[in-house]
Amino acid sequence: MMIEDFEGTNYGDWKVTGDAFGAAPAHGTLPHQMAVDGFLGDGFASSYHGGDGSIGTLTSPSFKVARKYIHFLIGGGGFAGKTCMNLLCDGKVVRTATGLNTQPGGSEHLDWQGWDVQALEGKSVVLEIVDQATGGWGHISIDQIVQTDRHLAGMIQNDVELPLKVAQRYFNLPVKNGATKRTLRLMVDGKNEREFQIELADAKPDWWAFMDVSAFHGRAVVLQADKLPEYSLGLKQIEQADVIKDGQNIYHEALRPQFHFSPRRGWNNDPNGMVFYQGEYQLFFQHNPYGWNWDNMHWGHAASRDLVHWTERPEALYPDALGMIYSGSAVVDWHNTSGFGRNGQPPIVLIYTAAGDQFSQCLAYSTDGGKTFTKYAGNPVVPQITGGNRDPKVFWHEPSKHWVMVLWVEKDKRNTIHFLTSANLKDWKVASESDDFFECPDFFELPVDGNPANKKWVLTAASSEYKLGTFDGEKFIAETPKLPGVRSDAFYAAQTYSDIPASDGRRIQIGWLRAPSPGMPFNQCMTVPLELKLMTTPEGVRLARLPVAELAKLRSGTKELGIFSLNAGDPNPLAKVSGERLELRAEFEPGAAGEVDFNLRGLSVSYDAAHQELIVNGHRAPAPLRGGRQRLIVYVDRTASEVFASDGLTYVPLPFLPKAADQNLSVQVKGGSAKFDALKIYQLKSIWK
Ligand code: FRU
Repeated sequence: MMIEDFEGTNYGDWKVTGDAFGAAPAHGTLPHQMAVDGFLGDGFASSYHGGDGSIGTLTSPSFKVARKYIHFLIGGGGFAGKTCMNLLCDGKVVRTATGLNTQPGGSEHLDWQGWDVQALEGKSVVLEIVDQATGGWGHISIDQIVQTDRHLAGMIQNDVELPLKVAQRYFNLPVKNGATKRTLRLMVDGKNEREFQIELADAKPDWWAFMDVSAFHGRAVVLQADKLPEYSLGLKQIEQADVIKDGQNIYHEALRPQFHFSPRRGWNNDPNGMVFYQGEYQLFFQHNPYGWNWDNMHWGHAASRDLVHWTERPEALYPDALGMIYSGSAVVDWHNTSGFGRNGQPPIVLIYTAAGDQFSQCLAYSTDGGKTFTKYAGNPVVPQITGGNRDPKVFWHEPSKHWVMVLWVEKDKRNTIHFLTSANLKDWKVASESDDFFECPDFFELPVDGNPANKKWVLTAASSEYKLGTFDGEKFIAETPKLPGVRSDAFYAAQTYSDIPASDGRRIQIGWLRAPSPGMPFNQCMTVPLELKLMTTPEGVRLARLPVAELAKLRSGTKELGIFSLNAGDPNPLAKVSGERLELRAEFEPGAAGEVDFNLRGLSVSYDAAHQELIVNGHRAPAPLRGGRQRLIVYVDRTASEVFASDGLTYVPLPFLPKAADQNLSVQVKGGSAKFDALKIYQLKSIWK
């Protein structure tokens, strides 16, 4: 029994208010809208007239409930009370439904939902389609509203609940990549303690994510899904356990990077909060614990005593009412300027962006050396300045005896870096602005050619391009134009360590290595730690990066070829060498050779001597000879490769999936002869136990 199919040339006897629904049903996708499908016939009610900004309602004439169910097609925004269809009886909302989308991305597809209305039999009711939302997904689409006694297979149920008593450490959650995202909430004593989006598997999962619930041990909690088809096993499959489900193989999966850090489960992007304290390198990271792609940003956490072996720890920061936890940095507050310290111990202070309705800067601290973290009750410490604001990098400027925060601020649609100062990490004021860099700024001073009497400040950001200049504690004055950074888009949002002891003195960087791990319960990884240096080159002073010396401890099998000449047509000197996790170091004078070509498990690394270019799997980068020589370092792991040339002036990290069976190595020259002063191949141990 049809209530409305919106096939008319106008809304008929439905009452229209506002502009959002236009004067008549839509006949397909409206201007500037993503493609809409799933509606039946030609017409459907759409509140995208005038885009997301418009609002309005559409109210049906009154009708009697004469069947057991009301079914309809619905799509668009998923905001309760704001982008919804309500069933009203005696002026009260007795049933409601929304679309599924609340975040960027998503789909305009209309899908079936339905209500069981047996309890309302014989009553007079009206339908009210509402659009009171003006932001992203601020619209709703409805079609084909019917009354029926037929039960709709897969009828969507709202707020499905699973009560549990927390007896073990984890809730293991079934994930199906690409499934419709559901909102899951952990309610404790009626309070929403955790909320996140998850591609919950209605049937067999691709993999299991885990939620650490040890903070609620012994408590009665309710896991709530905002919407689930009634056949869904999504909640029913959730298991409590003290171990991560299917976790026996963690770190030994076919595509687990063996000497690059990656989280046990879920997605990572930027490294965050890199700080050294009491012998430990802290590494936090942008983490989605519950999905294979970006979402639900937490600060995941790992630590290392040698920059090589990492131990993952529980999530350090969970999203909260101020928003998701976006990127930021960390410092040791040696003088306890913040007052967070306890028992004479300096606190580690994390400075991060809360990404919610506003983009504000917030603090959290640890008084147990980086094991547990408490968010500052006075957050945010820097409310949104203007436009997008994010990724605070904080450091102590000793000459001015104050803290400096370097922050990306979108101002009048331009990228700016704001420099703020503070005496106590809590009260900040803007000291100056600089142009031209987008997201994840970093800022530090380095000696040129190791000379402490000649230092330059490096201002850089997510892309790794940089400028050199001076800094007086408040203002950066650039002395160079923007210079090219790492020669690969696979490198992004890198950060350098804070509080490396003066006795060490290195500037150590880790970047997000955008290398997917298809089919695995985790995705992406970090670069190896890199040591940064400023070097004089014929073009001027330039930033170079090389792998940290600590990585040498991973070397096991070694093959050294000594000094030799290689001519075009010579047999492959590496014919008898093979391996899985590899480091190659070569030093050669290309001489008259046009090209020196290495192949490591299918990774092609060529040096084009005539053009002084490095070519990694077809990806070209300038790589000048230095003193007539080229020095190459190549790492091959299970999902990525990293190539360093020209003493670190050129660095090309790339995603790379070697074939498991191909463990061959080769080197050959084209056109002429090259003189090798060294060629070493190391097998590398895994960093994982
Ligand atoms: C860079 C970035 C940051 C932001 C974070 C969110 O990759 O966009 O600017 O803080 O990722 O995950």
